[in-house]
Amino acid sequence: MEFVFSSLTYLLLFVLTAVLLFLIRDELKTKQVDHRAGLVDPPAPKAWPIIGHLYLMARYKVPYRVFDEIMADLGSVFRLDLGSVPCVVVNGLNNIREVLMIKGDHFDSRPSFRRFNQLFKGDKNNSLAFCDWSQLQKTRRELLRAHTFPNTTSNMYTRLDTCLKTELADLTDTLDTMANTECVDIKNMLLHTCANVFMSYFCSTRFSRSYDKFREFIRNFDDVFYEVNQGAPCDFLPSLMPLYHWHFKKIRSWSSKIRNFMETEIFNKRKAAWVPGTKPVDFVDNLLDAVTQPDRDDGFDMDIGLFSLEDIIGGHSAITNFIVKTLGFLVDRPDVQRRIQEESDAVVRASGSVGLSDRSQMPYTEAVVYESLRLIASPIVPHLANRDTSVDGVRIRKGTTVFLNNYSLHMSPELWNNPEHYSPERFINAEGRLEKPEYFIPFSGGKRSCMGYKLVQLLSFCTISTLLNKYTLLPVEDVSYAVPKGNLALPFVTFPFRLRPRNFRKQ
Ligand code: HEM
Repeated sequence: MEFVFSSLTYLLLFVLTAVLLFLIRDELKTKQVDHRAGLVDPPAPKAWPIIGHLYLMARYKVPYRVFDEIMADLGSVFRLDLGSVPCVVVNGLNNIREVLMIKGDHFDSRPSFRRFNQLFKGDKNNSLAFCDWSQLQKTRRELLRAHTFPNTTSNMYTRLDTCLKTELADLTDTLDTMANTECVDIKNMLLHTCANVFMSYFCSTRFSRSYDKFREFIRNFDDVFYEVNQGAPCDFLPSLMPLYHWHFKKIRSWSSKIRNFMETEIFNKRKAAWVPGTKPVDFVDNLLDAVTQPDRDDGFDMDIGLFSLEDIIGGHSAITNFIVKTLGFLVDRPDVQRRIQEESDAVVRASGSVGLSDRSQMPYTEAVVYESLRLIASPIVPHLANRDTSVDGVRIRKGTTVFLNNYSLHMSPELWNNPEHYSPERFINAEGRLEKPEYFIPFSGGKRSCMGYKLVQLLSFCTISTLLNKYTLLPVEDVSYAVPKGNLALPFVTFPFRLRPRNFRKQ
């Protein structure tokens, strides 16, 4: 008994000493000043042993909200230890610019989360969004640019316009023939539409709504998209990894099924028919052209090409989720719907349908896209310091994960009037033109900025205006339309809508 007692006492003493040492170390870390470089270490709130500051993130529905609280106490650059992952949160436009633009080279890496690596054969560097910066990433971004940022006078732009018009006509035709528009699973319908816009634009092929394999492919992409938009404790506490065995298996199966579809339904046929030296028409041509170039020394090969293609095709899920969220904002705002309808009615009366070139005549609809982006954007894609560096005179050590807090920038009452309120008008200036404040950065900036932002703007604008031109959105009884903010993804099964056909006549 005495032995047990003394063992327990020693154990207790050991734990207390460990906790004490942890707290002293934490206190010292916060106060350290490097007089030579004039840098201070980032201040941090009180941390708990093992989980660090993770407990703070659980306080709010939108976890980033806690950043505001900490910022008020500690200033605009502060440290958070999320489990075993050292992080820094950077707030304020000037500091964010310092990271993205002035010191872009210091912060162009990404943290490594084993959960996400499962999607890319265990290696984040196979991915467009989660890889570290390299010559290979530069090549991938350059290859994509002409496709994701088509010049308004280019063939690519006309091609995108045609793909969009075709798929939106297919969507409204399908909706028109549906017996019941009282409860429409619009997300499912739109996933097909956006997936086919991407398929026809990037791969020159499209699939029927009734093709089971395509439906499964779309579902797998949406599951992946939902997954990468959620945080998980194992990202920060690797000791929990064994608990995720089955989950990781599921993640790997989504990506291997996606790969199987891409190879069997698209890539293998295109590869077999490819004649080197042919002028590329779509992105698949560009990939085949790139991988068959002699003397490549940047690591760009067929496997990497396929990963890039899958990454970019997956963008259809991001856009669909964004559009459905926007419809969720609009469902109980008939005044906003009416203004979009007024703009689209004028365009449809003149030219029969809404196209990409009509954006300049529809500033209010564009403002709706901006306003939804403001509310759903988040710092979900962090950067990583690849060397010892600093932001605003605060030391950032190599290997620190860096969150750029665009959520607070978009929700600050100092920058926006009544920021919680949905109000597209805030993006329209006194002359009735669209105006984007410099502190509105939903797609970030610099060398790791979003590769898909133009497509988001073009597809959402056209889809929302086409849908509202044909229908008025109404809520389905007893359904909650509380659109989650600070997060882009919705579950696969989400709120349905009632669609009431409009009496609008083209002539
Ligand atoms: C509403 C929809 C979207 C939002 C709000 C969004 C936002 C973002 C943000 C904030 C980043 C991180 C930028 C940084 O690290 O500084 C990012 C990265 C990225 N986005 Fe998007 N995005 C959206 C849709 C898309 C779509 C549709 C595509 C593809 C067609 C896409 C492709 C990418 C890629 C490839 C990256 C990684 C770029 C790199 O690391 O070099 N995004 N996005």
